[in-house]
Amino acid sequence: QKRIGACRAHTNIALIKYWGKRDQTLFLPTSSSLSLTLNAFYTDTRVQWLDNLSNDLFYLNGEKQSKEETNKISRFLDLFRDELGINGYAKVESYNHVPTAAGLASSASAFAALAGACRESLHLDWSNEKLSTFARRGSGSATRSVYGGFVEWNKGTSSVDSKAIAIDDANWDVGMVIIAINKAKKKVSSREGMQLTVATSPFYSQWVEQSEQDLIAIKEAIANQDIQRVGEIAETNAMRMHATTLAANPPFTYFEPETLQAIASVQALREKGFTAYYTIDAGPNVKVLCKASEMSQIKQHLSETFTNDQLITTTPGDALTRLDH
Ligand code: DP6
Repeated sequence: QKRIGACRAHTNIALIKYWGKRDQTLFLPTSSSLSLTLNAFYTDTRVQWLDNLSNDLFYLNGEKQSKEETNKISRFLDLFRDELGINGYAKVESYNHVPTAAGLASSASAFAALAGACRESLHLDWSNEKLSTFARRGSGSATRSVYGGFVEWNKGTSSVDSKAIAIDDANWDVGMVIIAINKAKKKVSSREGMQLTVATSPFYSQWVEQSEQDLIAIKEAIANQDIQRVGEIAETNAMRMHATTLAANPPFTYFEPETLQAIASVQALREKGFTAYYTIDAGPNVKVLCKASEMSQIKQHLSETFTNDQLITTTPGDALTRLDH
């Protein structure tokens, strides 16, 4: 049997944020989170185990990657080597499909696709839930990218049950408009930012408590297909997360002047009667949750303030899919 396999994973945007680990090595989060998988952004990855290699090889968008980047992949492949008790090295080829201006290159789709390609290439009959516990070890947010639609990452009690759960396929009137503010590499990575926040922000425990409430409320709103309520909860959850960084020591923020401008634009959209709510991750970009049926009109309005290549519309995305290799 040939040890080769390929997989596609879509990125996801958290509506209830993951912000803080209780275990740095196992990537166990402090609280559960919930996201929407997006159709417009994805990673395709092929893994091929070869007998003649003396180390792993990693190609991204056709380019051979540095030792440092390849090491991150090797550490991830080690999880499979250790679990299965196998030796040998692999050639890993990834392609990121992210509209150029988006600046959303995402570890979520990357590690979910890599985990999926490992499952294919090693002929493992693992469920997506189980696979998500491996994706998690590459990057926390990757846990959620194994499923489509609305996905919960349950914080769990240990490494085997801190996993993704499919909540709803989001096959109703749900869309997202990405406002790409800046594609420069972020100053504080999410990994460093959350660690500093957990260690120094006096608001952090409040954030965790509130997040638990938010998760219960948003699941109810999703079950009711109430996009306005989903948006209200997501927006406040995101802003409370960002409030924790302002209270960290040293204080920091991911916001840039244009981030605030985008927030104001979303508020103006609501005054015009649109259902539109924003969320923001560990960077300046603003993601607008809305009705898919209003997406193009919303984009139209936003293009008064932002250029067209800063605005990307997307509907919900699917779960991991196997690709021909
Ligand atoms: C703000 O998953 O990038 O986007 O687990 O350290 O790799 P690591 O962090 P990462 O953090 C994502 C943080 C966030 C919120 C979220 O996606 O839930």
